[in-house]
Amino acid sequence: MAMSKRMRSIVRTGRLALAAFTILVLSATAVTAAQAPLAFRGGQTSKPQANTAAAPWWKHAVIYEIYPRSFQDSDGDGVGDLNGITQRLDYLQTLGVDAIWLSPIYPSPLVDFGYDISDYQSIDPQYGTLADFDRLTSEANKRGIRIIMDMVMNHTSDKHPWFIESASSKTNPKRDWYVWRDGKPGGTPPNNPPNNWTSIFGHSAWQYDPKTSQYYYHRFYIQQPDLNWSNPAVENAMFGAVRFWLDRNVAGFRLDAIPTLFEDPKLRDAKLQPGTNAYGDPNQDTSLYENLPEVHDIMRHLRATVDKYPGQRVLIGETYLPNIAELDKWYGGTKHNELQLPMDMLVGFINKLDAATFRQRISDAETKISGNQPLFVFDNHDNIRSWNRYGDGTHNDAIAHLLAAILFTTRSTAMMYYGQELGMTTTPPERKEDVKDPIGITGWPREKGRDGERTPMQWDDSKNAGFSTAASTWLPVAADYTAKNVKAEQSDPNSLFSWYKQLIAMRKTNPTLRDGSMTMLDVTNPSVLSYVRKSVSGHPPVLVVLNFTGTTQTVSFDPRKDHLPSGNAHTLLTNATSLQQQSSLAQIELPPYATWIASLQ
Ligand code: GLC
Ligand code: MG
Repeated sequence: MAMSKRMRSIVRTGRLALAAFTILVLSATAVTAAQAPLAFRGGQTSKPQANTAAAPWWKHAVIYEIYPRSFQDSDGDGVGDLNGITQRLDYLQTLGVDAIWLSPIYPSPLVDFGYDISDYQSIDPQYGTLADFDRLTSEANKRGIRIIMDMVMNHTSDKHPWFIESASSKTNPKRDWYVWRDGKPGGTPPNNPPNNWTSIFGHSAWQYDPKTSQYYYHRFYIQQPDLNWSNPAVENAMFGAVRFWLDRNVAGFRLDAIPTLFEDPKLRDAKLQPGTNAYGDPNQDTSLYENLPEVHDIMRHLRATVDKYPGQRVLIGETYLPNIAELDKWYGGTKHNELQLPMDMLVGFINKLDAATFRQRISDAETKISGNQPLFVFDNHDNIRSWNRYGDGTHNDAIAHLLAAILFTTRSTAMMYYGQELGMTTTPPERKEDVKDPIGITGWPREKGRDGERTPMQWDDSKNAGFSTAASTWLPVAADYTAKNVKAEQSDPNSLFSWYKQLIAMRKTNPTLRDGSMTMLDVTNPSVLSYVRKSVSGHPPVLVVLNFTGTTQTVSFDPRKDHLPSGNAHTLLTNATSLQQQSSLAQIELPPYATWIASLQ
């Protein structure tokens, strides 16, 4: 059981996370045990973050992803909407959320549930109107919550007027806005695509168009043709959409699938790799169509555009990358002139509770991104929820507490996904005919699609979990909602929700957690991850100790050797009753997967 779960999560990671990333996950698993302590340069300390008042808001923010279809339905049609989100803003404020990232709400044929956009400057009627959007923004702002839009720049819907024009004839002025090519000489359409590239959603990345006898390229669904970013008109048009939303007061963008903007202009065949993906295609080396260096020019232009606006607008990247050096480039390295927050997927998607790998990756994020700000994320609308990916079936709750502790006690900006604070589970469809996400149909049963992590938010134990009054909802509510819901967890001080709330509050009010440097301790311990945050302004250090195993572990720290204060420790937060009174650093006994966070006097 545990084995098949793990295999499934690796398969799933591979689906969206680029082939390069899959290799990394697999090799990390294989390499860790033997090599990690050697590879890790333990004890390095990140630079303390001075000047907290002047720090941009996003540096200490909790960013909460909402999948609008599934958060709150206000008009009883079984699909979530903008007014529903507005109704739930008080909840988000109570939790301590600083910004909401809204998955796409633009008009869309909904093949990819909004990631296929047919108009970048409007709202899909299913979700509401521009007036609803403005009301959401202003109500959110009143509560100190900013709105971040999802910006899909790699592709449009095939129903977008740009593509309709582009497809209309070979001589249309917009022909070159997309990636059109003749088939391979000697072959017969539709069986002679320009090369062997595959879509991340399965099968050839080229779709034949009989009308103009050429193929167009699509990295994602057939209905999501890739824009041609080497044409400056595309940049112009897309930046127009960006400005439209900046003028409407959004706080920034999450840039969808952003490493896919450019493709090898020579369209050389990709090298094949061992094995096949969930759709039965041979695995490929993706380096000819992902993370090409040209994308950084566009990111610099985009940053310059955004920086012209007041209010510290932020650019967040969906950046699944093979290593930390590649991630550093997305910030512009020491120039700090690209994205402020490209997502670090190297920590949250390790997909294995291995203390050494976590230590190494967190330490990399602290020391190898040119003084930029890390952004950690464990959950989103594309991957099996962390509850299932990291859970062992017995200790899932304690493990979820531990992951949350990492998210909020490291120096990273924190990104979370609706329901993560409740321990919502991935609930995949049981039958192929119930699948909504098309890859779940193409890939059934190896890939059941992403419906399972998009089920409705669980508010209470009433009908449809309080999400909707409809007879049926667009995806079924997960069966565990009667026990696992906001209402129940808000009244339980030991719930995961209460843990999230306390962690977030602590991180906001404790000056050391806000701005302190970070040093790993006990760096050869294969079972327990420990680190200390230290403030520059004389506030007490904070020690974080996390048991990564299902057995009791005992650790001790030597104040002199570890450069810690010699007085008593004082527990700030723990999920182990036995550690509530712990005051000595000499013998710390951690129950399975326990978290202990203590202030050192
Ligand atoms: C991103 C989105 C995913 C979408 C894809 C294509 O990975 O997160 O949901 O299917 O891009 O836009
Ligand atoms: Mg592209």
